[in-house]
Order: sequence, then structure tokens, then C-alpha cells
Amino acid sequence: MENHTKDSTMKVSSLNCIDLANDDLHHSVVSLKQACLDCGFFYVINHGINEEFMEDVFEQSKKFFALPLEEKMKVLRNEKHRGYTPVLDEKLDPKNQVNGDHKEGYYIGIEVPKDDPHWDKPFYGPNPWPDADVLPGWRETMEKYHQEALRVSKAIARLLALALDLDVEYFDRTEMLGKPIATMRLLRYQGISDPSKGIYACGAHSDFGMMTLLATDGVMGLQICKDKNATPQKWEYVPPIKGAFIVNLGDMLERWSNGFFKSTLHRVLGNGQERYSIPFFVEPNHDCLVECLPTCKSESELPKYPPIKCSTYLAQRYKDTHAELSIYHKET
Ligand code: OGA
Ligand code: NI
Repeated sequence: MENHTKDSTMKVSSLNCIDLANDDLHHSVVSLKQACLDCGFFYVINHGINEEFMEDVFEQSKKFFALPLEEKMKVLRNEKHRGYTPVLDEKLDPKNQVNGDHKEGYYIGIEVPKDDPHWDKPFYGPNPWPDADVLPGWRETMEKYHQEALRVSKAIARLLALALDLDVEYFDRTEMLGKPIATMRLLRYQGISDPSKGIYACGAHSDFGMMTLLATDGVMGLQICKDKNATPQKWEYVPPIKGAFIVNLGDMLERWSNGFFKSTLHRVLGNGQERYSIPFFVEPNHDCLVECLPTCKSESELPKYPPIKCSTYLAQRYKDTHAELSIYHKET
């Protein structure tokens, strides 16, 4: 268990801020690259998603979590990782956590109808949706947000490609973000975390995929640890900026870039206040072979990781962190 000494000075992180409306592309790429080498976390502003619409999305998210548990259990997470995840369903840091994360979630992926030839692949398929009579307009709001967040992700991916000395459209191709796995997750955190007792709103982890766009309701809670090998670990709060996404790189991109770009350890501490957030997890296509990018290897810098298929990698990471679905069906 973490040896936690209460620190009276709350350390706050300062992160680079990427302005997607800035015409000075060179400046954006330099700033982004610096952030990716340093800690893999940055803010993104002027992304074109309207603030009023964001408020709608959070309102709808609150309405879902406010439903009685039995209503939420009707859309329980399925084998495609879509749907509702109850409190403690996920345990991201088993070494330091006594129970799972003190959060509830709802995964929504790209809607792939059953007549699509690829619908039966893991992470594809139709989404379960709460009853439209119970939550009118809910599905439409979430689908629109998914589309918008994917558009922003692709704009960021173009800057990432330039920062990696790749062609600007490198990640746009079909086997990458042209037909991606992209999953948004509504989250509600409750309760008070106590690291000295192994209680966390969300345990320390780095994200699995390529990158994550995080929208929050403005309540503090997210912390990052820039050096995972330091002892003791130093945690810094990432303050939310109104209207900005907090973007972080995932392990798949660290692997893809041969360790050049960093995915960084982060966690959430609850302070007793309810907190809502919406991460949007971006991964390339199912069949994308994640192998050292052409610009990240040389005669002196050989690939450090064997190639792996995106969906194989992802499936393993989900399996390691989520409860077996069968536990919810016992005694029913
Ligand atoms: C995550 C995550 C942070 C937050 O879901 O992977 O790190 O603030 N969430 O909700
Ligand atoms: Ni995360």
C-alpha cells in the first residue's frame, strides 16, 4: 500500500496548451512534441465543440447515473465492452487498491450494425442504449458527441504525425484512424479516496490505446505522476480548464513510437464531491499492426517491442482490468 504522507501544498501541474485554431502549425507541432516527450499530457483548446453542447452531454450523463440501479443494470456492459459498468467493476492498480475503482461508467463505441461484415469483431457491434422513453434524446446526444470527439481526435493525430516526422495524413488511413476503434466513457465518481487505505476513485494507470481526450465537469481530482520510477512517487493535480480537453497519450502510442513518446501514469482522487468526466479513447483499426513507426527506428535504435495487432493488445488490457462478466449473472 502506498505510504502516503499528507502534503499541505497541493502541487499543480502546468501543461502545454495546443490551440487547434492556431494558424502557426510549426508552433503547434513543436509545443505538442515537447509535451509528448516530457509527459504525454497536454490541453487542447479551440477544438470546435460548442460549450453549450458539452453541457448537454454532461446533463444527459448525470440523468443516466441518477437512474435506479436496476434500470442501469439493464444495459450492463456486454462482451463487446459496451454499456454500464457498476462501482468497483474496474481495478486499475491492483497492487495499491483494496477494492476496485469508486466510479460508475458507461462505454459507447462506434455503432456497427449487424449487417456490417465486421460487426462480430471484438470492440465492434451495436451499442446497448437506455430506453428512449426513460431518457429521451440521450442516444442522439451521445452519438453526436462521439462524432465530434472523433473529428477532434483526427485533427490531433495529424499534429502527432508531424511531431513524429511522418506524413501529415499518416494516421488517417483506413487501417488506422480511417476505421478506428473509438470508445467514449461516461464516468461518475463518488466518495472520498484515501491512498493510505488503498481507496481510490480511479487507481493509477496509463491508458491502453493511442490517445485519450478527457472532458471533465470542472471538479479537481485527476493527478499525474511524471516519473513512474521515482520513489516516493510525486503526484501533481491537473486542473481542468473550461472548454479544454485534457489529452494524454496511451501505451499503444508509446509502443508504436518505440518509447519515444510517453504514456504517463495518472489516477483520480475523490474529495467527497461528485465528479463527472468523459474520456474518449482513441485506437486504430482492429487489424492495425502496431509495430515500430518508420521514423522511430534506425541502425542504432532498433524496435524495442514485437509487433502486435491492435485488438489483441486491447483485449488483453481490458481483461486484466475489468471484472469477469459472469459475476453479475450468479444467483440471477
Ligand atoms: C480513465 C481516466 C480520468 C478522469 O478513465 O482512463 O484516467 O478524470 N479518467 O476521469
Ligand atoms: Ni486514464
